[in-house]
Amino acid sequence: MKVFHGDIVYAAGPDALTVHEDSYLAVENGVVEGIYPVLPERLAGAPVTDCGSDVIIPAFSDLHVHAPQYPQRGLAMDQLLYDWLHRYTFPLEAKYADPDFAHAVYDAFLDDMVEHGTMHAVIFGTIHRESTGYLLEQMEKRGLYGYVGKVNMDTASPDYLCETAEESLRETECFLDTYQGHRRAKPILTPRFAPTCSWELIWGLGKLAEKYQTGLQTHLVESRWEAAEAKRCFPDVSCDTEIYERAGLMDHGPVIGAHFIFPSEDDIRILKKHGGYAVQCPDATVNVIAGIMSTASLAEQGIKLGLGSDIAGGSNLGIYSQAARSVQLSKLKEFYEPDGNTAIPFARAFYMATKEGGAVFGKTGSLEPGYAFDALVIGGMDDPFGALTPAQAVERFCYLGETGHIRARYLGGEKIG
Ligand code: GUN
Ligand code: FE
Repeated sequence: MKVFHGDIVYAAGPDALTVHEDSYLAVENGVVEGIYPVLPERLAGAPVTDCGSDVIIPAFSDLHVHAPQYPQRGLAMDQLLYDWLHRYTFPLEAKYADPDFAHAVYDAFLDDMVEHGTMHAVIFGTIHRESTGYLLEQMEKRGLYGYVGKVNMDTASPDYLCETAEESLRETECFLDTYQGHRRAKPILTPRFAPTCSWELIWGLGKLAEKYQTGLQTHLVESRWEAAEAKRCFPDVSCDTEIYERAGLMDHGPVIGAHFIFPSEDDIRILKKHGGYAVQCPDATVNVIAGIMSTASLAEQGIKLGLGSDIAGGSNLGIYSQAARSVQLSKLKEFYEPDGNTAIPFARAFYMATKEGGAVFGKTGSLEPGYAFDALVIGGMDDPFGALTPAQAVERFCYLGETGHIRARYLGGEKIG
């Protein structure tokens, strides 16, 4: 048993932050045992870590990020999706045919992700099995929770970054087979998006989903171009999401739909039916996509929501910054499209960044009893003009915070970094 003393803040639900000021949080075997205003007698002998006036919050979950695009963050942000992919992103991803290049980038990426307080992530690799496998292995080794996918793309892609359906399916099956036994970082099927996948490939991935009981991550109705292209390439379906439903890709594990900015009623109905996540990636939205998710409306309709950095469509790894940006975008959405859209309160965005997104990985993302003690200690948000409440410190951290404001990081109760 270990004890942490300080101000404790988490979002047990979407409507409000829960705050325990000046309290004691007990951790048993890496899991939160309870939070107490006074240290209980039976814990008198346990070692206490005093966080003083700093605030203890859950670690963040990034539900959509491209690790191979890490070297490209903050570059070519004046392009839109199609040009950005073809001129910059695809040439960079081709470099991951070289495992040495991949190892160097992926080590740096994981260091920086943890530095930014993210301990759970759903990650795109590239088409390259070996390099992507290294990323998954390193996450497992570090004890980070993750879903990692070898990307599939067999059409409308440049020659240097294109597989045949047969080879893509063979490599994917080998990838799934190799990492079946992993406990924290697990494989996930990753057709890039409808415009770069043939029906033969998607159908084959559906068979693998059933055989290996594996989930799906992809980009869903991310731009008007992509949504239209999905229907043009797959004329038999009513919407982008139906492609994956028909192939049986939404029945065997988590379903992670990045962006979900331009969904039809059918997209929403299908994603909800399968308990899938719509992942908002606020920075990517303003950098390369130019559309705003209807977060409040989707939540009201029962769609699960999460946040993604979408490095490198997004430029910032901090999910806390994405939470702030989510609030900002919801206000713009309400302003420009008041019909059916309302701004979200900060608590809802923080909930997406922690407990709602964290549920993909099990009991992570909250500090309620039974949740993994994957946590951050944040400080330095006060100024001389008046003390902040713990909840205000958390909000300011999301708007102004830098990695230096994260004073300590705990994964399963152990200090890391
Ligand atoms: N759609 C297809 N590929 C990508 C990608 O790499 N990033 C983003 N943001 N959207 C995509
Ligand atoms: Fe993406």
